[in-house]
Amino acid sequence: MQKVLICDLKKYIGQEITLRGWLFNKRSSGKVIFVILRDGTGYLQCVYFKGNVSGETFDAADKIGQESSIEVTGKVKEEPRAEGGYELDATDLKVIQNTHDYPITPKEHGIEFLLDNRHLWLRSKKQVAILKIRHRIVKAIRDFFDDKGFTLMDPPILTPNAVEGTSTLFETKYFDLGSAYLTQSGQLYAEAGAMALGKVYTFGPTFRAEKSKTRRHLTEFWMVEPEVAFADLNDDMDLAEEFLEYIVQTVLKNNIDELKTLERDISKLKNVKKPLPRITYDEAIEILKKKNIELEWGKDISGADETIISNQFDRPVIVHRYPAEIKAFYMKRDPENPKVALAMDVLAPEGYGEIIGGSQREDDLDELLKRIKEHNLPQEAFDWYLDLRRYGSVPHSGFGLGLERTVSWICGLDHLREAIPFPRMIYRNTP
Ligand code: 4AD
Ligand code: MG
Repeated sequence: MQKVLICDLKKYIGQEITLRGWLFNKRSSGKVIFVILRDGTGYLQCVYFKGNVSGETFDAADKIGQESSIEVTGKVKEEPRAEGGYELDATDLKVIQNTHDYPITPKEHGIEFLLDNRHLWLRSKKQVAILKIRHRIVKAIRDFFDDKGFTLMDPPILTPNAVEGTSTLFETKYFDLGSAYLTQSGQLYAEAGAMALGKVYTFGPTFRAEKSKTRRHLTEFWMVEPEVAFADLNDDMDLAEEFLEYIVQTVLKNNIDELKTLERDISKLKNVKKPLPRITYDEAIEILKKKNIELEWGKDISGADETIISNQFDRPVIVHRYPAEIKAFYMKRDPENPKVALAMDVLAPEGYGEIIGGSQREDDLDELLKRIKEHNLPQEAFDWYLDLRRYGSVPHSGFGLGLERTVSWICGLDHLREAIPFPRMIYRNTP
């Protein structure tokens, strides 16, 4: 008997086949039992008619509980009314493990219970759809940069210094060398890579000891960070908008079923095409003012204010030229107005907030030294980084896109915790 996956059923219409998986759900009406099989690639209704199978098989089908592992055999037929478009006229059932009292039943459960059972919750329809979309986004990210001639470069995770401010560092003892910190961003290493390879990207886990308990923050999240030599802020924004268009359109092309499962309104996603609107920080303040919100120049834009700004547009919006004071030490100042940094953030629509942060980098040694002092950073730790400004320094730019923020937005989730298989947050590091 051929062992087949649900996603391949169309090749087997009319044939008798065997599938393996888990019991997703079951309905019965005396003479007939509908077994919904899931195998990770899809869902299939398997129909056990009392008259068509042995008494033993019918009994076994009657007794299996939710999430039992099973092997079903039967004939595939087209059934437009069934989920996936196929049905199995079942002839046999092999029970690998009969399971009872599976903790996650089709009824409603509280979020803490679900998070405690995350290792099982992953099997639910919605979580499977999210995992598949996350996978698609990761692939789209890699394809996009690979096709553009970028080289993937993996930065270290244990690092000797901060990148994005010292307040969110995870510290760990490091033998006789004192402390090491979990990386907040691979950027500084990506800059070294860009000087070696021209165009690179890093893609991996990054860490922030975020004390805030918001729906937009994880303590461990994945970031992709392209870095390009001989590129200015405009080039950086061009790259970011092309990148976002590619990611969203790729998901729309390949994952309509999953988006349907998530009941995602895709009309808003369809708009994600370049050019994206670009406004300065000053213009963002003006937008807020028209909504009767006074943001003092020099203050950061809050999450709530980001939502108000992004609500003015039908696609993601790029905000650039933020006050230098509130931005990272490595960002280049605008030669036309040194009070602002050549920085940009991309704000997602529908209240999802910042998904990309990037900038043109300070490429002048003396300026960068000044910034390191102003930010009270230990100069020795950055000596290698300063070398990039001593030997063949060039204008260069890059950005970081938060994977979970992107997954959360594209999937239309309420919280980042469902956008990663096993979320790490201030109050949770299990399972
Ligand atoms: O804006 P951030 O802090 O920028 C950087 O780390 C730069 N070094 C990137 C670069 O230029 N190469 O972070 C980039 C993105 C944010 O826009 C957000 O999407 C995500 O990373 N991010 C988080 N995602 C989840 N949880 C958190 N605590 C996050 N902090 C940042
Ligand atoms: Mg940022």
